[in-house]
This record gives sequence, C-alpha cells and structure tokens, in this order.
Amino acid sequence: MTVRPRRSALYMPASNTRAIEKARTLPCDVVILDLEDAVAPEAKEEARANAVAAVQAGGFGRRELVIRVNALGTPWAEADLEAAATSGADAILAPKVSDAATVGRYHAALAHAPAGLGFWAMVETSRAIFRLDAIAEAMAARSGAFVLGANDLAKEMCARLTVERTPFLGMMALAVAAARGHGLAVLDGVYNAFDDDAGLERQCIEAKAYGFDGKTLIHPRQVEIANRQFSPSDEELAWAEAAISAFAVPENAGRGAIRVGGEMVERLHLDQARKIVAAASDRSR
Ligand code: COA
Ligand code: MG
Repeated sequence: MTVRPRRSALYMPASNTRAIEKARTLPCDVVILDLEDAVAPEAKEEARANAVAAVQAGGFGRRELVIRVNALGTPWAEADLEAAATSGADAILAPKVSDAATVGRYHAALAHAPAGLGFWAMVETSRAIFRLDAIAEAMAARSGAFVLGANDLAKEMCARLTVERTPFLGMMALAVAAARGHGLAVLDGVYNAFDDDAGLERQCIEAKAYGFDGKTLIHPRQVEIANRQFSPSDEELAWAEAAISAFAVPENAGRGAIRVGGEMVERLHLDQARKIVAAASDRSR
C-alpha cells in the first residue's frame, strides 16, 4: 500500500528564484510554485517562465510539483494553463473554484494535457462552500485535491482568521467530507504567523484530527512542524500494529469486533491501521 505523503505543501512565489532553489533542499512533500496571489501583475510573465524552467530543470527529488495558475477569466490564465500543462509538473492548482461548471472549463482547457497531470482546486470562496460535493464530483477525470484558501475565505466572509479558526471549523469539516466522498486528497490552509511555532502546531494537530492529509505552508520553518504532526505518532503506530496482530490471531479469525487494550476494534479499522503502518514505513525510508 503506498500513500503519497502530502504532510507539508510549501507555497512560493514563482517570481522568487531563490525560494525555488531553496525548495530543492527542504523536506517538504509538495512544492507549490505560485503564479497567482503571491505574484504582482507586472511579474506574471517572468513567474510563469521561472516555474516552467524550474520544473524542467528538476532536482526536486520525491517532492510533488504543483503550479498554481491564475484563474480562468484573468489575462494570464490561458498562457499559465498551457505552460503548466506541458511543463512536466505533477498537478495544476486552480484558484477560486466556486462551482462544478468552472471545473469543467479547466478540464476542457486541459483536454490535451498528459493523463497523469492532476487537477487541484482551491476552496476559498463563499460560493464554493455550498457546492463542495458537486465540485469534488466534477473533479473525477483527474487525480485531485482540495486546498483550503484561508486568507481569501476570511477576506470574502469578513471573518477573522485567528489561530483557533472558530469561524472556519465547520467549513473545514465539510471540505474534508466532500473530498473523501470523491477520493480527493485535502490540504489545510496556511498559517500566516510563520514565527509562531506553537500556533502552527495547534493548527496542524486540529487539521489532522479533522482528517486533512497535510497543511499548506508559506515559510521553510513551518515544514518540519507539519511533517511531524501529520506523520503517524508513536501511539497511532502502536495502536495500528496491535490491531493488525490481534486480528491475525486464529481465535479472532471469525470475529468482527474485538478488544485491543481498553478499546473496541472492528474489522473496518484494519484499513486505517494498514494505512498508518504504510505511512510510517514510507516516511522512515
Ligand atoms: N519557500 C522557499 N523558501 C523561502 C520561502 C518559501 N515560501 N519563504 C522564505 N524562504 C527562504 C528565503 O529565501 C530565505 O532564504 P535564504 O536565507 O537562503 O536567503 C529564508 O527562507 C528565510 O526567509 P525570511 O527572510 O525569513 O523570509 P522573507 O522575509 O524573505 O519572506 C515571506 C517572508 C512571507 C514574504 C515569504 O516567506 C514568502 O514569500 N512566502 C510565500 C508566500 C506565498 O507563496 N503565498 C501564496 C500562498 S498564501
Ligand atoms: Mg487565494
């Protein structure tokens, strides 16, 4: 069983060649080369050329490479999509996706792109929240992920983005449920206060409990914390190994629910247990 790790997904403006160079040495699972919000209008062309050159030059090892394009309807979208689709990147990340019809337009624009190219969608508009299931369903044609966009969502909703994120917790749960219902990966939004390790840790623990695969990040110092928090903990691994061994015992062969330590474990937990063991062994390589 292989589970592609997406514990840490680091954004960088593709206009910043020094940041891109640094990304080749950072332990992040995903590199997101941004052409959108982090790039000023006058730097869009240069950023696009940098992103393509970086992907083609390689040197990113196991890291998954994602290019965030400007939204359809902006002056840069077509050229961004064309360049990203043929660059060799693993996936395209589309901003401000609010409905299933928009997903259809991206898929049409990517009709001739390699079949292996993933299509990821930012969940960062109020309108998207009530259409998450339809958006996720429309993404079936390519491997996909939802990526929460904390800053845009807070801006549009006029909500405050605190470390607790109380106004957003319901939406986080909905995004995870919609993503899982259609086999998508799902990544949490960024934490802007990149000097606040305790705050980031808190958000990672919470996001993992909600079911997110990992967190999007804005600064190298956040990578290690996200990797640690989204990796199976010693306790989870011990639970998983105990559950697997308990069901392997001959007298439990015919049973659906058994006791492991002080807890009930059912056969449905075996999938989870195997995933935890696979993720732990993948990461120790
Ligand atoms: N990816 C890769 N490297 C990064 C990085 C990133 N996101 N952010 C900073 N670095 C590098 C810097 O280049 C610098 O490297 P160096 O010491 O080798 O020169 C080092 O990390 C330390 O950077 P620091 O001085 O602490 O940060 P800064 O003040 O230069 O930049 C930000 C702060 C927030 C502007 C910057 O981190 C950034 O651009 N983040 C990403 C923004 C983004 O992509 N947003 C879109 C999604 S919300
Ligand atoms: Mg945004």
